[in-house]
Amino acid sequence: MTILYRNRRPTIQTTAPYKNVQERVEMIFNNTSLLIVSLHRFLDIWLPPLITKNPRQNPQAMIVVAVILALVAFVWYRYPQNAIGTRPRPDLKGPQGYPLIGNLFEVLGQGHRILENLLNDWQTYGPGCSITIPFGGRLISVNTPEQLAHILKSNFDNYVKGRFIHEISHEVLGHGIFNADGEKWRYQRKVASHIFTASAFKGLISDVINDEIANLLLILKSYSESGEAFNISDLFFRMTLDIFAKISVSQEFHCLTSYKSSDHPALARAIEEAAYTSDLRTRNPFWKITELLTGKNKDIKKWVTDINTWAYGIIAKRRKQLDDCKEERKDLLSLFMAYRDENDRPLSDEELRDIIFNFILAGRDTTAQASTWLIHHILKNPETITPLHEEISRLPTPTYESQGAHVYVNALILESLRLEPVLPKSVKTAIHDDILPGGVLVQAGDKICYSAYVMGRLAEIWGEDVLRFRPERWIDSEGKLKRESAFKYPVFNAGPRICLGQAFATFELVVFISRIFEAFDVKRAVDVQKEEDVRYAESLTHPMVGGLWVRVVSRKVYVADFILDLIFTIILRNHCIHVYPIVHMALISTHLLLLPRSGTLTQVAIYSPVKVDQEQVLNLAKLVLAQAILPKSFQICTGSKSYLFTRMEWSWQLRGHEVQYEEIKIECENWKWKIHVKDTSY
Ligand code: HEM
Repeated sequence: MTILYRNRRPTIQTTAPYKNVQERVEMIFNNTSLLIVSLHRFLDIWLPPLITKNPRQNPQAMIVVAVILALVAFVWYRYPQNAIGTRPRPDLKGPQGYPLIGNLFEVLGQGHRILENLLNDWQTYGPGCSITIPFGGRLISVNTPEQLAHILKSNFDNYVKGRFIHEISHEVLGHGIFNADGEKWRYQRKVASHIFTASAFKGLISDVINDEIANLLLILKSYSESGEAFNISDLFFRMTLDIFAKISVSQEFHCLTSYKSSDHPALARAIEEAAYTSDLRTRNPFWKITELLTGKNKDIKKWVTDINTWAYGIIAKRRKQLDDCKEERKDLLSLFMAYRDENDRPLSDEELRDIIFNFILAGRDTTAQASTWLIHHILKNPETITPLHEEISRLPTPTYESQGAHVYVNALILESLRLEPVLPKSVKTAIHDDILPGGVLVQAGDKICYSAYVMGRLAEIWGEDVLRFRPERWIDSEGKLKRESAFKYPVFNAGPRICLGQAFATFELVVFISRIFEAFDVKRAVDVQKEEDVRYAESLTHPMVGGLWVRVVSRKVYVADFILDLIFTIILRNHCIHVYPIVHMALISTHLLLLPRSGTLTQVAIYSPVKVDQEQVLNLAKLVLAQAILPKSFQICTGSKSYLFTRMEWSWQLRGHEVQYEEIKIECENWKWKIHVKDTSY
């Protein structure tokens, strides 16, 4: 997981982010200081008497020397190239290790090259490539689709997250789906799958994502006016945390809207820090000692206490509202609270806390990082921009259901994730001995490491142009999206533990990219960050060092149906109708010049969930439309009443086309609203 990058110019472009450096220095300092202290004691106190006194007169010294020599011989014999706690495996290949410490230096010292090293090792040694780490055991690389199908599906029960992952993350994730195994995992998966397929869930995410993207576009607009360079990944991290806080518990974190202030919401900080520390633990076999020596263990306890106080507080409040029959929300918490298993058992407070927190972490960094890499690839491959614009202007705004129609945007996402998967490597532990396809023997307790990053860069899987960013590889001859087997493309994992949020994440990414590139030309801020300086930071996930620095220029195409979108939003948000007009009026006047949409909207249907005061809606619509660039005349009908509005003749430029709408008609029947726009320009 990653810390939130501030919108500050990266002072050290080619090194890890500040936080990483600090943590790394702490880690190295603590590990080496332990070593130095022991060495010093040995050299200072034990060695001089041993070598200065005559051994014959000093039988204890002889015993000590003999014991040391015996120990060295034993270690050399037992751990010739492998780490303590592992057995020699001459049948396996891999980079040379050292007695006792195995390949520790590679793991500790490789930093931002960790994934390249995994790739090189695989390309050099192939299947059966392995390394050993003290107290971490033996890690065997598995990167063929057949081997992956074996461990993630055919022999699924033999490969678990295990104690290693549980120890690292249980303080933060509790018994959530990410670190659960066996029956505990099966139960959580069943509950979560049930919620993720519910239509209430899909409606909820569409509303929240559309709201948040509007906030993001406003911020981009202010950057387009000032011409300032900014870190777009910082905005993505803020936005995805806001989205998840709303979706999970209907809370506003305001991370995005507070983007210019140095204050970061305290709870958001606790969540980030707790997640970041779990991440650090995966890279430091001595994390327990390090945290004890640096006092970090106390910090984690405090962050987790803050998170728990917040989570249990919300759950208690929600239970009370349910008892008082005041609960109307449909966020994840409510959906999970309403869940009953086959014995009619509801979820406990602890289960609810773990579920909610696991989802916040699952969905936040992943989509923020995926959006960042995707923009980087689009900017690096400018030939992608024309087809992207063409598709955006041809299709209406994506919805959860229609996102698949955006074939080119989907292909861009898949291609970007192939080269930069946001969960680049995963580890499982074998419970029993097993033989992998290809004949590699796995012994009980061995760890299996498979890497979507490595697999996405293998010519034997993707062909000779594997390193080229080519979205077309995802589009078939009929212009439809091509799907690949998840065992060949394990970016969202594969088998029974495949990512539950894949459709959700893809929807988010399709909306982010199409709305941003529709409204702005995005350029890399080369004076702040050159293309060749972009690289990933060492992490469990796949953050970009220092974030991605860009400038944006408004595409200045006038909006027609965006105004209608706003009317829908207002109507749908009718419970807030008294509050929203002014806010939305402001939004409209700023967005009007900003948000281009295609001129082809012909009909949209909306379902109003709650009974609204029609008079109010109409007044509001009138207000909105009066501010907008309007057609000559339009009609609004609600139930039995019908209103006709006329305005002066109008027309506007839409990407070089003169666009004229003859008529806009808004109808309402049984609370089903329809807006007809008759476009006469074609
Ligand atoms: C680009 C975005 C995403 C990518 C690439 C991604 C990828 C993955 C991967 C590789 C795993 C397996 C992790 C493991 O076994 O340790 C996973 C699991 C999971 N993901 Fe995602 N994810 C993304 C976004 C999301 C979102 C937005 C959500 C939630 C709304 C989500 C929910 C989950 C859940 C619940 C699991 C656990 C499944 C299980 O263990 O049964 N993911 N994801």
